[in-house]
Amino acid sequence: MLPADFVSAAPVPCAYIDGEGRIAAINPGLSALFGTEVLRRHYITAFRQPALIDQIESAVADRQGRETQYLGRAGGRDTSYKVTISPLDGAGQGLLIFFEDLTHLAEAGERRSEFVANVSHELRTPLTAIAGFIETLRGPARDDPEAQDRFLDIMAREAGRMNRLVDDLLSLARVEDVERMRPEADIDVAALLHRAAAGLAPQAEKRNVSITVTGCEAPAMVPGDPDQLTQVFSNLIENAIKYGREGGVVDVSLDRLEEAPLLRGPGLRIAVRDNGEGIDARHLGRLTERFYRVDSHRSRDMGGTGLGLAIVKHIVNRHRGRLRIESEQGQGSVFTVYLPAW
Ligand SMILES: Nc1ncnc2c1ncn2[C@@H]1O[C@H](COP(=O)(O)OP(=O)(O)OP(=O)(O)O)[C@@H](O)[C@H]1O
Ligand SMILES: [Mg+2]
Repeated sequence: MLPADFVSAAPVPCAYIDGEGRIAAINPGLSALFGTEVLRRHYITAFRQPALIDQIESAVADRQGRETQYLGRAGGRDTSYKVTISPLDGAGQGLLIFFEDLTHLAEAGERRSEFVANVSHELRTPLTAIAGFIETLRGPARDDPEAQDRFLDIMAREAGRMNRLVDDLLSLARVEDVERMRPEADIDVAALLHRAAAGLAPQAEKRNVSITVTGCEAPAMVPGDPDQLTQVFSNLIENAIKYGREGGVVDVSLDRLEEAPLLRGPGLRIAVRDNGEGIDARHLGRLTERFYRVDSHRSRDMGGTGLGLAIVKHIVNRHRGRLRIESEQGQGSVFTVYLPAW
């Protein structure tokens, strides 16, 4: 078998460097990475990265295989490859070189660090407040029962926020754990929507918001996970109450579709609509990111952790459904969930 046959069969970008140090064969993956012009060039002018060239040079000298890294840039982002250099026995003393794309691993690592940084920051904010009030209670407020009451109230609220944050983090982790397993229970979404709306009635009352539920007279069955779907609609309705207009309306509607858009089959469309200020278009695409809030002060004041919609999106994905967010400034927002039916 010729080295060129190996190269074209390789599942990753691959080149054959002949005994003269010239690139004698490349596969389509490699030409996508470096361009077809590297063919027949010397590897020094073709690859250009000193670390990689050094390793090839050493492999040529001692005929030992090696691994190294190749860092590039493509489509405006940094890429990272594991490079394996394998000298061939005989065959004119050439060597094969393979590039394995590890960019996704590097990116996953970055996302994880960013997540940990966010979690730490979110936990530290209430913790700092609590620690500060402990100091005050020990010192200046030692003999001031009125101030003590006030500070203890704030401390309780901050502790409550930390609790909710931990609950949301656990719930996100659980959802991610089972994301690949399709839920199978037979769920009546109509009944579930009624319950979710009823559960939030006290919160709605506080903001003088009225909730209407339409299309839920008859059962509407889908394969689903009842707790998770409850979480989805509770969060959407709660958001509509919290971020919609004070004294406004939240409209929850259910429709049965023969052919749901985006689902290629029969499904349910559940829309939660408020008539609040709406959300600026530049935020729409980012709302389902963890900890993303449009107005973090306002959301924090309302006890929000910014994880609600991230959880919603994971749950909807697990149900093979779709989430669509539309909003017009001044008109309100509509959060629509499409769920495939049986
Ligand atoms: N109906 C809505 N109208 C206007 N803004 C909204 C609406 N729903 C969500 N948002 C914005 O999206 C952000 C993210 O919502 P999400 O549900 O993820 O977090 P949260 O409500 O702040 O916290 P949590 O749901 O964990 O209590 C909110 O902070 C808010 O700024
Ligand atoms: Mg929320």
